Amino acid sequence: MTTKSVLLIIAGGIAAYKSLELIRELSKRGIRTQAILTRAGAEFITPLSVGSLTGGKCYTDLFDLTDEAEMGHIELSRAADLVVVAPATADLLSKPANGVAGDLASTALLATDKPVLYAPAMNVRMWTHPGVQRNVDILRKDGALFVGPDEGDMACGEYGPGRMAEPVEIANAVEAHFAAMSDGRLTGRHVVVTAGPTHEPLDPVRYIANRSSGKQGYAIAAALARLGARVTLVSGPTDLSAPPGVDIIRVQTAREMMDRTMGALPAEVAICCAAVADYRPEIETNHKIKKERGGLSSIPLTENPDILRSISSLDVGRPELVIGFAAETDDILCNADAKRKRKGCDWIVANDVSTGTGTMGGENNSVTILSEAGEESWENMPKARVADRLAGYIADELVKRAC
Ligand code: CTP
Repeated sequence: MTTKSVLLIIAGGIAAYKSLELIRELSKRGIRTQAILTRAGAEFITPLSVGSLTGGKCYTDLFDLTDEAEMGHIELSRAADLVVVAPATADLLSKPANGVAGDLASTALLATDKPVLYAPAMNVRMWTHPGVQRNVDILRKDGALFVGPDEGDMACGEYGPGRMAEPVEIANAVEAHFAAMSDGRLTGRHVVVTAGPTHEPLDPVRYIANRSSGKQGYAIAAALARLGARVTLVSGPTDLSAPPGVDIIRVQTAREMMDRTMGALPAEVAICCAAVADYRPEIETNHKIKKERGGLSSIPLTENPDILRSISSLDVGRPELVIGFAAETDDILCNADAKRKRKGCDWIVANDVSTGTGTMGGENNSVTILSEAGEESWENMPKARVADRLAGYIADELVKRAC
């Protein structure tokens, strides 16, 4: 295996001292590090200590002409396999989230073509501030990875989330990322994933929709691509960016989703994660429906095509593995299993979307995988981890089926 390398950006926080330990931890695991120390970071640790541990130059400023001659910021940002920002301060998180570059660190973050892993570290009130959370959301949507922050006593004397993840934890996340990237177990396989809601137009200004954010489906598409699969993601309207290495087809309605999904076949695996509207308005007018005397008492609806059922019942060209999702609020497992049988898919991923679970649109999910063979419940975890685990199960299943 070729040696992996990390560009470590150390920003100005008290946790900067832990980054020295992180360099040692990465080096123990055979991962090379190059480092950028921000001006504020240099108030906490010195370029000399960073350089001694990385065994190379510690880059400190965009306007250092010698550095620009030796290695420009563009090259520096792309030479590594992964960019790690630890500690990631509120200030440094805000820059790539808003497309701002003012020094070497923020310029490298905009110029890089590599994934970025942030290890945030800040006071608990800063971490929970809506402005910081907004930036974190933007970065996540742009495909950034996060480790931590942990909850605990902080240097400022307060308690709560905001403490930088321990160096071992960050190194684990780096290693897990490299392992997933180099796995390649799905190389040569085509997977079609549907995700997001559908919008069913009523008139030029109104539509019927649902609360699906698309996060779980996008995370699954990204995880499958990391395992080497060719992934076609047929997505309803979301505000998410296409995950790296995934072919995205954007649609609005259930009928478009049906056409484009069927058109994307053949595939070895189909995963229907989308929250497809079951019904659409029977009539779509080109004129805005006016508020008339007597009011609008009902909207006639007609049923949409069922994509999952259509794929599952294909006589010719049925994917080897067809997976559905069952977002339920009552009798979850019972309803989900009945749905699996009714729709003819191989696995169904059941989750509880009752009000208060935070699943719909949230960052976490607790799922149970149901198949002919039985059921398996997973603990509550981030959607990205559900996706990685599911992608691993899919890869294993294809191997089993080939034997
Ligand atoms: N699905 C689909 N096409 C539809 C409706 C649903 O492909 N027109 C897929 C979803 O992507 C999901 C699974 O079917 O994988 C279950 O979706 P869900 O909305 O829970 O099922 P419904 O059949 O609509 O059942 P109900 O709304 O009655 O729970």
